[in-house]
Amino acid sequence: MVVYQIYPRSFQDSDGDGDGDLRGIVERLDHIAGLGADAIWLSPFYPSPLVDGGYDVADYRDVDPRFGTLQDAAALIAAAHEHGLKVLFDVVPCHTSIEHPWFREHPDWYVWSDRDGPQNNWRATFGGPAWSRDPVSGRWYLHSFYPEQPDLNWRNPEVPRAFGDVLRFWLDRGVDGFRIDALDRILKDPELRDDPPADGPPPLPEAYMDAGLQSRNSRNAPDIGTAIAQIRGAAGPGALLVGEVYLLSDRLAPYVEHLDACFSFELLHAPWEADKVRAAIAAATTSGKAAWVLSNHDFARLPDRVGPRNVRAAALLLLTLPGMAFVYQGDELGMADGPDGGHDRAGRDRHRTPMPWDGAANAGFTSGTPWLDIAIPPGGTAAQQEHDPGSMLAWYRELIALRRQIEGGFELLDAAPGVVAFRRGKHVVALNLGDSPQPPPPVRDLLLATLESSAAALPPGGAMLATD
Ligand code: NOJ
Repeated sequence: MVVYQIYPRSFQDSDGDGDGDLRGIVERLDHIAGLGADAIWLSPFYPSPLVDGGYDVADYRDVDPRFGTLQDAAALIAAAHEHGLKVLFDVVPCHTSIEHPWFREHPDWYVWSDRDGPQNNWRATFGGPAWSRDPVSGRWYLHSFYPEQPDLNWRNPEVPRAFGDVLRFWLDRGVDGFRIDALDRILKDPELRDDPPADGPPPLPEAYMDAGLQSRNSRNAPDIGTAIAQIRGAAGPGALLVGEVYLLSDRLAPYVEHLDACFSFELLHAPWEADKVRAAIAAATTSGKAAWVLSNHDFARLPDRVGPRNVRAAALLLLTLPGMAFVYQGDELGMADGPDGGHDRAGRDRHRTPMPWDGAANAGFTSGTPWLDIAIPPGGTAAQQEHDPGSMLAWYRELIALRRQIEGGFELLDAAPGVVAFRRGKHVVALNLGDSPQPPPPVRDLLLATLESSAAALPPGGAMLATD
């Protein structure tokens, strides 16, 4: 499956308020179906104060008025299905917004310190202590992310029950599955013991690297599998469940036991060097359930992450590895990080700038004032790329079409220095991440290759999909 990630606030505005919305998404489904995607994943559009871009949910069973109505959600699900696209919604089980009524109505659904101050030394992902004082009750609550996002207590059986109701609410409305947020955070050490001091850099980059702690007790409790099983139980066997689990692949067993796939963050973060990329792929393919992703709304866009020269090779890699591939909106146009708008305190606005559709005002994104400035990628808007066979958009379309022909196993191949190469059945993939031209492994017919790549040589940044 190829899943296209939509960040609803930045996709298409239909009512001129400067924020994208669900009706806008319906207007642009042709673009996604035309790309060849199989499914869409929508980042949260639920009522939210938007302190964390919607990952601070104030009501899991409604649509924020900025983004539409429940009727619009139903219409979007129906329209996507008519386009042959499955629909994944984003659910956030770790925490709610502090404005969610549960926080006042069911305080025992949250995690509280039993003292007048933080219970332990845990740090919040975006900096500062993971405990804040509730000014209403005077008690201290846990938050793995922003203080406006109190953590739910998954050790209280009412929480998985309430969350199961949320999943069924959307499944009853026709969604096909969920991307599930921050799953490694839902069960912590039951005794809330301190995290031990770090003995090296964190296994994956953290927003705040200076915490000096290993997050051993603050996430991924040994019994995490029980909570994941509860989620699967509530969603039923037919729902597609993709976990956002921010751990190395060798820690994913209790998650993939119950989920269809988990994102491979090793590859997303791997330095663009052949040995690092090979190691990340080798580690992630062992689970057999890797969901490949090279950019999303949290991390640098492809040109900023791998350098403009390597963007096509990165896309070819993403779309030829075995398993689900996630394409973030705008990557198919070669979008780079844009300007910061001062909305997200962790500085992620630049990965979330609106889609550049065409030559109309505000690149066709909105007739009003866009919530973030729009940056036009070097290859032009979607309309400019639409009929250009050399465009990034054409590259993605061809890749996704050719991907359908690839079958069979997966084997990393020995390759020249700087080259990553692997075999999938009768297909061979090779990309040159280094700075000098290199020979690819022996191949017969090139099915798709970057300019100047040939069966004899791959230039720096070059990539090919071939048969042998
Ligand atoms: C991961 C989401 O992708 C990110 O945007 C969010 O800030 C955190 N989880 C917390 O929900």
